[in-house]
Amino acid sequence: MFHAHALTGSKAEQYGQLLEQVQAMLAGEHDRVANAANLSALVYHALPQLNWVGFYFFDGHELVVGPFQGKPACVRIALGRGVCGTAAVTRQVQRVEDVMAFDGHIACDADSRSELVVPLYRGDELIGVFDLDSPVPARFTAEDKAGLSAIAQAFVETTR
Ligand code: SME
Repeated sequence: MFHAHALTGSKAEQYGQLLEQVQAMLAGEHDRVANAANLSALVYHALPQLNWVGFYFFDGHELVVGPFQGKPACVRIALGRGVCGTAAVTRQVQRVEDVMAFDGHIACDADSRSELVVPLYRGDELIGVFDLDSPVPARFTAEDKAGLSAIAQAFVETTR
């Protein structure tokens, strides 16, 4: 059974440790739902100031909520809508310091103030997005973007 250790040191060092934990936890397992569920739980408990961490998967038409930690969320998000749909169509990580100021933001949890969404692509194939919400404005820095993008990539590499 995988056991997560507390993260120590600088933020960069912590993301290095978290990535190692992710790789160890996902090693040898290719089930998308299983890996998304454990990854959501690991990140939600490892990082501070988060109120939602999870996945939306592309079903060939729109984004559909997958495994997550946090309050129940909107189930379906059209491509191009909200922060998640924007990440999916632009293929760019969306780092939103103030969700109230993001045109079209979809409020699933009224506590959310800032958000980071990493698009998940295998080559040109859209798999979905990895979404993190925080009750703290501007919670996500460029370091968080880099660290969480690497973690998302580790997930993509386990999917088939
Ligand atoms: N805020 C997201 C919707 C998903 S929830 O945050 C879990 C968006 O605007 O796409």
